[in-house]
Amino acid sequence: MNAVLARHADLASRLARVVPAAEIALAAPLIARIEALKADQDAVVLAHNYQTPLVSAVAEFTGDSLAMAQYALQATAGTIVVCGVRFMAETVKLLCPDKRVLLSAEEAGCSLADSIGVEAVRAVRAACPGVPAVAYINTTAAVKAEVDVCCTSANAVRVVRALGVPQVIMLPDQHLAGFVAEESGIEVIAWSGQCEVHTRFDAADIRAFRRDTAVTVLAHPECPEPVRAEADFVGSTGAMAKFLAERRPPRAMLLTECAMADNVALQCPDINFVRPCNLCPHMKATTLERVAGALEGPGAPIEIEPSLAARARRPIARMLEIG
Ligand code: 13P
Ligand code: SF4
Repeated sequence: MNAVLARHADLASRLARVVPAAEIALAAPLIARIEALKADQDAVVLAHNYQTPLVSAVAEFTGDSLAMAQYALQATAGTIVVCGVRFMAETVKLLCPDKRVLLSAEEAGCSLADSIGVEAVRAVRAACPGVPAVAYINTTAAVKAEVDVCCTSANAVRVVRALGVPQVIMLPDQHLAGFVAEESGIEVIAWSGQCEVHTRFDAADIRAFRRDTAVTVLAHPECPEPVRAEADFVGSTGAMAKFLAERRPPRAMLLTECAMADNVALQCPDINFVRPCNLCPHMKATTLERVAGALEGPGAPIEIEPSLAARARRPIARMLEIG
């Protein structure tokens, strides 16, 4: 078997459970092209858990927002291609200012991150003098530059507790803020943003499904409180994957973006997934063609004005120190 066929056979066997064979065969030449481009350009691909299994197949690392930032910190390659959305690529650039950072789909934003701007952060802070402000990693670099510390859904409770204060401002996601308040007992002043994907789940639907079928329900903290209340476990995408890898429930329902169940199904073939998922159009702007296109250029590497970058890096570094 030649090298290309061997690679294809290996890929096909890994992805067979979730990707049709014809799709894998069609993607194989493109995957080979991306691998050659990466080798040629000293590049690695960093993918979020919401990328499709085919996109994840070309990634050196796949994980949640926190794990992506931690991976970027220790990456040695000269170029990092981010398969995700803009705030993730900005975070990588802030942590690796000397690297070339490419966002595979340059237009991929996040409606939650776009729900708050600098002026609004300043107004909230002015209204709550002395109260520390925590920004979700799903924010622009300009918003991060205005706050004391960042958090992701994986460490939000830990970060808020570490501040050791009775009251914090959290922005922009109102549901993550509610989750942190419930878990920590700390008063949280929240912004009104919400994720267009996670707010589409409906608690009554989940309750009705559970009446007839035994299923372990996992929800992302961006889900509204009535939805979280129906779940057996609430956590980041990385925490969901860990929970399932350890507990191996026979049937699971993930209240988050669609690709998550496909990616976990590759690691946990014994779990039967019920899929009431919602697509994130921003995450799904990335395709294998776009990954190849980003490396072939010309494209626009992520650039952040140095004085803004210095201010935006501080709250991320503080978050990573907390862990
Ligand atoms: P995670 O950090 O849990 O992967 O979430 C990122 C995100 O955008 C969820 O919508
Ligand atoms: Fe943003 Fe929601 Fe998409 Fe995550 S799922 S990138 S929060 S719009």
